Amino acid sequence: MEVVICSDERQVGEVAADRVISWLEGLVTPVLGLATGSSPIALYDELARRAVLGDIDFSHALGFALDEYVGIDPEHELSYKQTIRRTVVEPLRMDPARVRVPDGSAEDLAAAAEAYDLAIAEAGGVDVQVLGIGSNGHIGFNEPTSSFASRTRVKTLTQQTRDDNARFFSEGEQVPTHCVTQGLGTIMDAKHLIMVVTGEHKADAVAAMIEGPVAAVCPASILQFHQSAVVVLDEAAASKLQYGDYFRHVARHKDGVGELGS
Ligand code: F6R
Repeated sequence: MEVVICSDERQVGEVAADRVISWLEGLVTPVLGLATGSSPIALYDELARRAVLGDIDFSHALGFALDEYVGIDPEHELSYKQTIRRTVVEPLRMDPARVRVPDGSAEDLAAAAEAYDLAIAEAGGVDVQVLGIGSNGHIGFNEPTSSFASRTRVKTLTQQTRDDNARFFSEGEQVPTHCVTQGLGTIMDAKHLIMVVTGEHKADAVAAMIEGPVAAVCPASILQFHQSAVVVLDEAAASKLQYGDYFRHVARHKDGVGELGS
C-alpha cells in the first residue's frame, strides 16, 4: 500500500487526481468505481477542473457507484443516485447513461445485486476505484465483520454509520437502516484503488487500516492485500500513524511523487 501524506485537502485532491489520471492514460473506455460522501469531493473537484481544462475527457467513461440506500426513492436528493449525479457525473461531464448505481428499490434486491456485479464484469472490471473510509473502518458500506470474499449484496448499517450520515438528512428524516453495497471481493477486483481521507475523526480508522492486522473488524485493512492501492491523507487523518515519518520520507524520495502536489 502506498501512503501519501499531504498538507491540506486541496493537495489531497491534486495528488489523488494526478494518480487517477496516470492510471487512466490510454484507456479508450475507462471504468470508474465511484464513492459518495465528503472524502472524495476534493478529488472530484480537481478532476472536474482538469476536465474543463481539457486535460482529461470522461465522456466515454463508464461509472459504477459503490453503494445505495435500500428503500430510498431514487429521485430523493440524498439517494446515492442523485448524489453521484450532482457530485460526479455533472462536474466530470460524464454521460449519465453510462453511470450505474446499485438499485436499492428493486423488488428482488438479491437479483439486482447479482446483476450489478455481472454488469461490472461485462464492462471489463473497474479500472480505478475511488474509496473513502468510515470512522469504523468500513469501505463501501461493508461494515465491520463483513466477509473479505463478499460480493454486491444487502447489508445492515451499523448505528455508528447511521449517526455519521445523519448530518446529510434533515431533522425528522430517518437515515435508512439498510443498503446495497459492492462487496469487499468486488472492490478488491478493481485494478487500482485510490482512497482519500481527511480529518482527525478518521485517524483511528486510518491507523487500523494501514498498520493494524488484516481483520474483518476493520474491513478497509483488506487493502493491505491489493497490488495497487494508494491512500492519500491530510495531516490530521495521518496523525495516529506510527510510520508517518517513514511515509513522508518515502514520498519525498520516490520519483515524481514528491512533486505531485507541491
Ligand atoms: C460512500 C461510501 C462510504 C464512505 C465513508 C466515508 O459511497 O462508500 O464508505 O466513503 O462512509 O464517508 P465520508 O467521506 O462522508 O466521511
